[in-house]
Amino acid sequence: MLDTLERPQSAESARRPIPEPPVIALPAPAEVPAYLRTHYRWAYLDPRNVALLDRPLVVNIILWGNARRLRLVAFDEIEPGWSVLQAAHVYGRYPLELARHIGPEGRLEVIDVAPVQVARCREKLKGFANVTVGLGDAADARGARYDAACSFFLLHEVPPDYKRKIVDALLGSVTEGGKAVFVDYHRPHWAHPLKALMGLVFDMAEPFARELWEVEIRDLASDPGSFSWRKETYFGGLYQKVVARRPR
Ligand SMILES: C[S@@+](CC[C@H](N)C(=O)[O-])C[C@H]1O[C@@H](n2cnc3c(N)ncnc32)[C@H](O)[C@@H]1O
Repeated sequence: MLDTLERPQSAESARRPIPEPPVIALPAPAEVPAYLRTHYRWAYLDPRNVALLDRPLVVNIILWGNARRLRLVAFDEIEPGWSVLQAAHVYGRYPLELARHIGPEGRLEVIDVAPVQVARCREKLKGFANVTVGLGDAADARGARYDAACSFFLLHEVPPDYKRKIVDALLGSVTEGGKAVFVDYHRPHWAHPLKALMGLVFDMAEPFARELWEVEIRDLASDPGSFSWRKETYFGGLYQKVVARRPR
């Protein structure tokens, strides 16, 4: 019996040259880091869960009703017309509101290390001509400089060495007079009614989050002296905004 490999070819098909495979231009895939695959697959890589979780209501519940407030706290640092690097996709309304905030004169580049998140964010922002969404690791140095480079609840999800690399990479991508903006968890007041519960959540599901209760984001930078730093805390200290401004 002949299998498909042995089937004799007609004289004509034997002469026909085998076509070259088409060359498809794909963005260089950033490898999904091990911490994401190990600890956050369910939240960020499983397409079914992504669709379930990427909703304003879910984000607001996770942030104890502070989603809008914290978004605005970040946007307070960004002027319409600026060029902005957003260091990861954010669930809910954040990407859309950021694109609206910078307006048609601004330029927004969103990167995310997970292809499913890039696709999700592209879908949210498809109406905006001045926005690009691509695969990229926030820990990698960018070739470009921006008026603002933003990290919104990214640092608490990454291991210690990654935190440092992301802080340095974002600081390095800021223009003179520009800002790196970090909004994330912070050590709450000792009497905060949610402190014990958040500690439990971190111990069970967010293994790198507690570090932000112990260290200052400024101290994660390898050259903090080249920037002027400002920090504000919110909601009994559970959240923080840290702004690093590069002098002109
Ligand atoms: C910004 S953080 C958490 C945000 C917050 N929980 C939310 O969405 O409201 C989640 C995103 O960070 C992305 N991410 C994690 N590590 C990254 C890295 N090193 N570079 C770029 N994106 C990263 C994940 O793929 C995910 O889309």
